Amino acid sequence: MPGASSGGHPPIVVLTGAGISRESGLATFRDPDGIWARFRIEDVATPEAYARDPERVLAFYNARRRGMTADDVRPNAAHLALARLEAEWPGGVTVVTQNIDDLHERAGSRNLIHMHGELLKARCTSCPDVRPWRNDIRVDHACPACGALGALRPHVVWFGEIPLGLDAIDTALGACGLFVSIGTSGNVYPAAGFVRQVRMLGRARAVELNLEPSEGATLFERARYGPASETVPAFVDDLLARGLAAAG
Ligand code: APR
Repeated sequence: MPGASSGGHPPIVVLTGAGISRESGLATFRDPDGIWARFRIEDVATPEAYARDPERVLAFYNARRRGMTADDVRPNAAHLALARLEAEWPGGVTVVTQNIDDLHERAGSRNLIHMHGELLKARCTSCPDVRPWRNDIRVDHACPACGALGALRPHVVWFGEIPLGLDAIDTALGACGLFVSIGTSGNVYPAAGFVRQVRMLGRARAVELNLEPSEGATLFERARYGPASETVPAFVDDLLARGLAAAG
């Protein structure tokens, strides 16, 4: 029976948010200097905003994509530690990220679910095509697959849309013996509800690694607060040295 055991190496699910990429130079959303302190969600991150003013929405994501692909934006020690955990943990590790950057992939994580999409991919609104896209998306672009003009959007889940990979996430949460939440404020569902889901199943321990207590902090049995580039490598070292007992 997969799941928590007194010690051992059960499957692990790691949820990450913008805080894990902060020390790589990417802004978070709800910190005082965050993205939602400078932009309104309803202007740039909803299907209605895209229908109303596609150029404004595309410009918002073009600027974030340029920032994300800058030479000095690289995976930090936290991303690298999660890739090491995946490579060395016998029970398997699934990283569920709310982030739309590619820092987990670049760090070496493979078993990865981008539940809010990926900014370095483009999606066509006229056909099912989704493909890597590292440059600006413009309203005069034609879809390379179907030729539709002005139909391209970032492959990003907007507010009001259904996140991606929810079935696979549900399966992973149901089987895990350890749930670790890293760098997320616990404000946005369904991600913010994963800890409750795991606690209800009663088979996994829940640990929060964040700069400060999140909205859901009281739902975690253990927490380590500080910058992810410090807390995540230390926690991974502990897990690899002591197994699940490290989360005790
Ligand atoms: N190390 C660890 N945690 C950090 C660091 C750091 N260096 N810097 C900030 N944090 C923490 C903050 O304390 C905060 O709790 O990361 C969290 C970031 O929270 P948000 O800005 O709300 O980002 P996130 O939780 O990922 O947002 C979820 O909301 O806007 C939508 O789609 C967007 O995916 C995003 C979702």
